[in-house]
Amino acid sequence: MVSKSKKLFDQAKKIIPSGVNSPVRFFKPYPFFVKKSQGSSIWDEDGKRYIDYCNGYGALLLGHTRKEIISAVSSQLKRGTLYTVPTALEVELSKLIIKNFPSMGKVRLVNTGAEATMTAIRLARGFTKKKKIIKFEGCYHGAYSSVLVKAGSGSAHIGISVSEGGLKEASKNTLVVPYNDSQTLDRVLSKHRDVAGLIIEPVLANMGLILPEKNFLSDVRKITKQHDVPLIFDEVVTGFRVSEGGAQKTFKIKPDITTLAKALGNGFTISAVGGRKEIMNKLAPGGNVYQASTFAGNPISVTAAISSIKTINKNKNKLYAKLERNCELLVDEIDDLATDYKISHQINSIASMFQIFFSSKPVTDYKTSKKADGKKFHKLFSSLLKNGVFIAPSQFETVFLSDAHTDTDITKTLGAYGLSLKAVKN
Ligand SMILES: Cc1ncc(COP(=O)(O)O)c(C=O)c1O
Repeated sequence: MVSKSKKLFDQAKKIIPSGVNSPVRFFKPYPFFVKKSQGSSIWDEDGKRYIDYCNGYGALLLGHTRKEIISAVSSQLKRGTLYTVPTALEVELSKLIIKNFPSMGKVRLVNTGAEATMTAIRLARGFTKKKKIIKFEGCYHGAYSSVLVKAGSGSAHIGISVSEGGLKEASKNTLVVPYNDSQTLDRVLSKHRDVAGLIIEPVLANMGLILPEKNFLSDVRKITKQHDVPLIFDEVVTGFRVSEGGAQKTFKIKPDITTLAKALGNGFTISAVGGRKEIMNKLAPGGNVYQASTFAGNPISVTAAISSIKTINKNKNKLYAKLERNCELLVDEIDDLATDYKISHQINSIASMFQIFFSSKPVTDYKTSKKADGKKFHKLFSSLLKNGVFIAPSQFETVFLSDAHTDTDITKTLGAYGLSLKAVKN
């Protein structure tokens, strides 16, 4: 019998490019179509349940349909969905964000990760009156020209280094440096005087998962200070996930500008860009760096974010300890399983994220991640899916845990990894 997902995909292909509304959602032979989600799980149109480790690419730190958030948003829905004039809610949320991210003197709310990083880069350019930006190989900051250069995530998966339709003029002002290589960064900054800012994922979560090596982030901070270049931490993934204060709290680094999204709204569309007051004051209308958005600060997303942060702050000790314990448990057991099957592999992990690479060499940057065996990864993904576990369908993404995963979920997941690694071996 043809599945409902297959039938829907056949319809979708005719009216939606490639049948999906974001490239990594496609996988062979066709993606499953989702009917509903709850807690740790999603169900497809045919009624099959999957334990979800894609979790909105990291957004759903607290799990699907988290009761505190659904309840707060349900109440707000009755009071209105869009005002486009300021609210007390925005003041409350901004205070909460700054309390958790003390590197921010001021914060502006926007909608998506790309919008936040785009604003951060424009701010850095407006503040310094300089042109070039530095990004790292494999870091992904959104689907727009100036950062879509040797980017990770879907563009690495499909193999697009610079997108067609993107102007050379936009990408030629982007200097790209290898991740975990502070010497090259220092050399590049010594050569180029026209650098407006450096943007980095403090933990690289878009080439699989790549951790900053010891002292790398503190070196990046030191070097950018020496060269007087604003440091932008793109914490779209790591904010509220690596800790309630993001990677900057864990690694004790104070960036000049920070971007947040994903776990900020636990599944609702919201992001934020914040930083030193003298930089943030450049934003219009007080300053001449223009940024605007109809849906920014809408009361639904803002309510969701307030509820997310309050829930995180209230439960923070138990929450992060549980997430880390479950992550360690999965990583240790998967490592043992792959070793028992004599499969060459690496697993990188931090907090509630991990990824396996089928490679004999440590994965520390774009090049080493690209060398891992993608075909084996796809085999693993397909078998996990068959066995009721959904991870992101690309080697260049990350496995995300949520607070909703139960001990039973973890046991079932390990069973599925056992069967799937066996399939990879054969
Ligand atoms: C680190 C990082 N920055 C920015 C973005 C762009 O976010 P969005 O897809 O919401 O535009 C992403 C998306 O995955 C991301 O992982």
